[in-house]
Order: sequence, then structure tokens, then C-alpha cells
Amino acid sequence: MILQATAEACANIALIKYWGKRDAVLNLPATGSLSLTLSGLVTRTTVTWAEDPGADAIVLDGKPAEGAERERIATFLDLVRALMHANGSRRGPDSPRATVESSNGFPRAAGLASSASGFAALALAATRAAGLELADEQLSVLARRGSGSACRSIFGGFAEWLPGNAADGQDSHGVRLLAPEAWDVRMLVAVLAERPKPKGSRDAMNHTVATSPYFDAWRAAIPGDLDVARQAISARDLRRLGELAESNALRMHATMLAARPPVLYWLPETVAAMRRVWEVRDAGLTCWFTIDAGPNVKVLCDVASEAAVVAGLSELPGVLRVISSRPGPGARLLPAPVAS
Ligand code: PMV
Repeated sequence: MILQATAEACANIALIKYWGKRDAVLNLPATGSLSLTLSGLVTRTTVTWAEDPGADAIVLDGKPAEGAERERIATFLDLVRALMHANGSRRGPDSPRATVESSNGFPRAAGLASSASGFAALALAATRAAGLELADEQLSVLARRGSGSACRSIFGGFAEWLPGNAADGQDSHGVRLLAPEAWDVRMLVAVLAERPKPKGSRDAMNHTVATSPYFDAWRAAIPGDLDVARQAISARDLRRLGELAESNALRMHATMLAARPPVLYWLPETVAAMRRVWEVRDAGLTCWFTIDAGPNVKVLCDVASEAAVVAGLSELPGVLRVISSRPGPGARLLPAPVAS
């Protein structure tokens, strides 16, 4: 029996950000958040389980995973091993060891949300390879343990992460708000740096919660932001959604900047791209930016403005390339290769 499965998942970019945990071990957020899953940023992952007491073999973009990155994935695989035993999955081996091969069509750990697509694809591939069929919400709960934002990538289109109340986190998962084909918008990623970021979101988030005097104000504003974002999505009101997303991202970065010592992900090129978005918007294009835990700038725009916004960003000296995405699908299983 082949205990193998391959899954794909797309990254998602938050329009209302998740920044702050109420439980660091279970990855439970202080607030809800809301995102768009992107067609252009895809991770494909194959997991094979075998009876073997050795260590998991983990290969990311053709190279063996090392250090903290390896540790994080092996810890996640332990959760899947626990699920295999809890579900009495007799299909699986007793001491299952995983071989994981994962490839990204875009740079890892540079603020392009590769951990979101990565853990969503891993959650689906690892459970299916083990013969476990989790409902989307349960899969989202599992993916959340790898990386909080991954719980939203289980779903396509616009998704919301419900923070939940339960101490065990079983009610903290993503839900779909709007299917990818229900609203044709664009998200552009201006890639300014392809190197791994200096401080991971996990540490930076905990540091912000612990030291930023603005964190309480940030948290208090999120339920209202989510209400407006949901209304804007249901009314297909891009202006309302875009203005809110840009403001929400700036408030998140202001909260980090007020931490001690401060957390600053922006490069000079980041500020140049933000200003360019303002310039082309003043000139009549329909676009707004958002920025995550990295220097890259993402731009939400309408289909009619896409080409001109790409051109405006591409001519900046610090922009390496611009990746254009439509609303993307949720995590999905790929067919097993046909044996020859
Ligand atoms: O899921 P993490 O730990 O990579 O954190 C994601 C944090 C942000 O990308 C900045 C915001 C978000 O909601 O995705």
C-alpha cells in the first residue's frame, strides 16, 4: 500500500491582519483576520509515510530543511502522527516516518506568506497520505498549528479566520466568505527582496504584544474592521475594502514600530513602492497596498487598473519583479501518478 499524497495550496494575503496571539503554543490569535487566497503563489507538497524509526526526511525547494525550519515541520508532523493514533488509523504504520518534498513557485520566508501555503499543503498531504479525511474546518485547525495564517489558505477566495473561544483551539479556524470566481479582483506582489527576512513573524508578534503600548488599540479596532470588510466584500465594494486594508496594514506596522526595541520590516524600496501606489491612485487608478512581515508590497487593484499598476511598480529601481494573482483556489489534492 502506498501511503503517499500530493497537495497544492496557495498563499493568502491578509486584508485585515493577524498580529498577536493569545496562546503561542496553539497559535490562537488575539483577534480575527481576513484574507484573499492568491492564484499566483503556490506550494506543492508530497508526503510519504513509511514504517521506520528514523527521523523525518524533509526537502524544501530541492534542499534538505535545516535548523528551526526543519524543527517546525517535524513538530507539525508529530501532530499528524498523534491524529493517526487517536483515529485508530490502522492503515498507518506504528512508527511512521515521513518523507516530505515541498516546492514553492516563489521565494520562501520573504514576507510572501510561504508558511501559509506551505502548512496548508502539508496538512492536506500529510493527513490524506495517512488515510485521514478531515473536513475543511478540521484541516484548518491543524494547519493553524503550523502557521496561524495557514488556516485561511485551506479556503479559496476571501476567507476569514474565526478566533474562537475554546481553550483547546478547536473553534479557531478559517471559513470561506466568497468563492474565488465570485469576484474578479487582482493582487499584485511587488518583490523587493528575495532573501529570508531578519525576524520571523512569530517572534515579532510576541514581542509586539509584550512591549508595544499601541497593541491594545490595535486589537480593539479589529472587530469593527472585520465588520466593514465583510460588508465591502459582500457588496463587491473594492474602494471600501482597499481603503480599509491599507489603513489596517499601516496600523499593524505602526504598532510594531512602537515596540521596544522597534520592529521595522520596511526597506527604502518599500516606502518607494507605497508612494508609487499613492501616486498612481491620485492619477486615477483603483489600487491600495498592504504589507506583511517583510519588505514586499502587495497591491489590491481592479482588473482595469492591473496593467498600469504593474507598469508603475516595475519601473521603480528596487522592484525585482511583480507577481500578479487572481483570487486562488483552496488547498486541493492532486491525483496520484499513474503507475507504469
Ligand atoms: O501566520 P504567520 O505566523 O506567518 O503570521 C502572519 C502575519 C501576517 O502575515 C503579517 C498577517 C496575516 O494575517 O497573515
